[in-house]
Amino acid sequence: MIQIAPSILSADFLHLEKDVELVNRHADLFHLDIMDGTFVPNISFGFPVVEAIAQKARKPLDVHLMIVHPEKYVERFAKAGAALISFHYETAQEQSGAILEQIRNLGVKAGLVINPDCPVQAIIPYLKQVDFVLLMSVFAGFGGQKFIPESMERIRTVRAELDRIGRPDVPIEVDGGIGPANAAEVVAAGASILVAGSSVFKAANPVEAIESMRKA
Ligand code: DX5
Ligand code: ZN
Repeated sequence: MIQIAPSILSADFLHLEKDVELVNRHADLFHLDIMDGTFVPNISFGFPVVEAIAQKARKPLDVHLMIVHPEKYVERFAKAGAALISFHYETAQEQSGAILEQIRNLGVKAGLVINPDCPVQAIIPYLKQVDFVLLMSVFAGFGGQKFIPESMERIRTVRAELDRIGRPDVPIEVDGGIGPANAAEVVAAGASILVAGSSVFKAANPVEAIESMRKA
């Protein structure tokens, strides 16, 4: 099953409830990008916004941490209502295993993320432990960037490795530059959760955009 996770970073913050309802009615997950201005050169939003969305959300909250020291904040995001939390391997390195366990112990699904310039080999040792993998198909930090074509091979590599270790059900989420035009190819490479920011919220017809990606 293909799941569509609209990225709230591209939503209309003056009318957030309208976009929350769009996700509730038509999509599968709320993708929430948390940026600290240190790991990535941008600052997004924090707990008050996540908690406000949690009050109205009828779909699970998928929190993508782009912050240094993710271990300091995972508990608060779990309390704020996250059902999935992912953090960047680049921010955790050899602590990644411990942080994955910390997240799982909070009753939240744990995911490991890498930017396009991080070799996929870095996360292979953790594939036995993750609940999902998040592969960036743009450099984390901003919505509206162009999909990096080399991401396709990286998705295939991680998919093959998950299958090889007997974990074919572990989903691969892909984030950055995804829309109706490339969704089918991303799915064919082995992804099953598609993050989509601008291709949903800046679309003339967001519902149609979601439906067309889900059919991919
Ligand atoms: C980028 C974020 C993405 C972003 C995706 O750092 O992780 O989730 O919002 O936006 P689009 O779909 O516009 O590339
Ligand atoms: Zn994201």
